[in-house]
Amino acid sequence: MLRSRNYRIDKKTRDKYAEVKLSARDLIYPYFVVEGEGVRESIPSMEGVYQLSIDALIDDINEAYSYGIDKFLLFGVVDSSLKDDKGSSAWMENNIVSKAVREVKKRFPMLTIMTDVCVCGYTSHGHCGVLNADDQVDNDATIKNLARIAVSHAEAGADFVAPSAMMDGQVEAIRKELDKRGLIGTKILSYSAKYHSAFYGPFRDAVESAPAFGDRKTYQMDYRTIGQSIEEVEADIAEGADWLMVKPAHTYLDIIYMIKNKFPDKTLVGYHVSGEYAMIKAAAAKGYIDENEAMVEALTAIKRAGADHIISYFAKEYMSNLSKKD
Ligand code: PBG
Repeated sequence: MLRSRNYRIDKKTRDKYAEVKLSARDLIYPYFVVEGEGVRESIPSMEGVYQLSIDALIDDINEAYSYGIDKFLLFGVVDSSLKDDKGSSAWMENNIVSKAVREVKKRFPMLTIMTDVCVCGYTSHGHCGVLNADDQVDNDATIKNLARIAVSHAEAGADFVAPSAMMDGQVEAIRKELDKRGLIGTKILSYSAKYHSAFYGPFRDAVESAPAFGDRKTYQMDYRTIGQSIEEVEADIAEGADWLMVKPAHTYLDIIYMIKNKFPDKTLVGYHVSGEYAMIKAAAAKGYIDENEAMVEALTAIKRAGADHIISYFAKEYMSNLSKKD
């Protein structure tokens, strides 16, 4: 008889045989940055997540870093008066993300700062690109704009730019433009396999980017597909992506597992997205599940599936709970 229960006899023994353990350096903490001072505006559908002005962002990063978190992903949120049909406030001089990167890097040069490269939070129509006469996103016009955004973030000092628009050729367009300007040290974290998902709902409240008409199904992947994720990843690697991403994560563990196995030498990131976060928060608020246990289990599962890093709105809470226990 196999005496498997010997591995589980008490907590010390279980800890000893645990194969997967999440640590601070695995985590990437996302932030929503806005103009202003002293702004800490809560997002109703994402309890515990805020829109922060740069000063508040600095304070929050300081706290997160005290728990050992050293990687951050920044999203800009702009006033609707700044939105236009192209999303040009994403790359204008002194755009909110570039300003935030400069300030954060000045104070915390040792951190890894990543920036989201997309226009959905900056376009009046909420789509991830420029529209053509038929109201479809024009791929080749859009990637030029994505490259402009990436350059502005890289010039500000971003370590990674992270294109999330799911336009074909976006990684190549960005890499070329960065290299042309001598920004060869800036790396690309590509949202390679990004599926169209209902689980992005709360995020769209956070950046006020819900599409005004239609949906994102003509550019984000159909969740009934598997093989296309391999093609997307292969293309991104060929175009110069440094790190890869599968998104969402909790609902796409099979894709994470498969991509890690097919591309074991590439650093893989899983994005535990807003809806996956909000579900745990909401169920815990109702007393249906234990929040801390559900959070630890969900994030550990993403690492167990093969993600080297996890983008999570729980990152700070995870680490602060851990420090309280130790
Ligand atoms: C922007 C973008 C989205 C997310 C990250 N970047 C929204 C979308 O594509 O609709 C989702 C993140 C989350 O839900 O936590 N293109």
